[in-house]
Amino acid sequence: MTGYFISFEGGEGSGKTTQIKKLVAWLAAHRLAERTLVTREPGGTASAEAVRDLLVKGAADRWLPATEAMLMSASRHEHVENVLRPALSTGKIILCDRYNDSTRIYQGVVGGVSHDAIEALNRLACGDLEPDLTILLDMDVETGLDRANHRNTAENRFESKGTAFHQRVRSGFLDLAADAPTRFAVVDAGRDPETIHKDIVDLVETRLKAAQVLT
Ligand code: TMP
Repeated sequence: MTGYFISFEGGEGSGKTTQIKKLVAWLAAHRLAERTLVTREPGGTASAEAVRDLLVKGAADRWLPATEAMLMSASRHEHVENVLRPALSTGKIILCDRYNDSTRIYQGVVGGVSHDAIEALNRLACGDLEPDLTILLDMDVETGLDRANHRNTAENRFESKGTAFHQRVRSGFLDLAADAPTRFAVVDAGRDPETIHKDIVDLVETRLKAAQVLT
């Protein structure tokens, strides 16, 4: 059985969690519940979740960008080896809330860690494991931040980095998507959740059929 790896990327409050839930329900309706694995980064294993806590809580300037990149990569390596690779080898469809493109953008393009250093870390953390499809949920930064700030959570370290930081995240992701148009699909996340879901289903159905995961 062939596995299929889908990552979701986007800014704060772009609706990744909502869209992943809707896609899970759609896959279940197509008798693919057993084959679906939902996971996230940073996190996805007990030890990687412990590292996540260090990264997403506390003061915005708690870590230097290169330290952040190393911590993100440390948690990713645990996730790749213990969860993602075993799941793909048993034919799972993985829906992963963020993956190494987030490090490319947040710590690399915006944080200022060099491209070469980020790619070296990604190689160490992931080897050759890249997603088959990356869905970029793109939307207005202020609306997304407003949405994220209304959540009652201590996980607000990145939100507190401010609007200019997140504008750079948005344009960084769009540039990355333009550079890898086969892997990326950019979805306008500023619309109502059901419309966005329909677009995602069209996309995923086409890709899963092409990969012969769905018949
Ligand atoms: P989340 O709120 O989407 O779960 O993501 C947690 C935060 O971590 C989010 O603000 C983006 C950030 N992040 C990075 O900066 N680099 C990374 O590699 C990952 C996976 C997330």
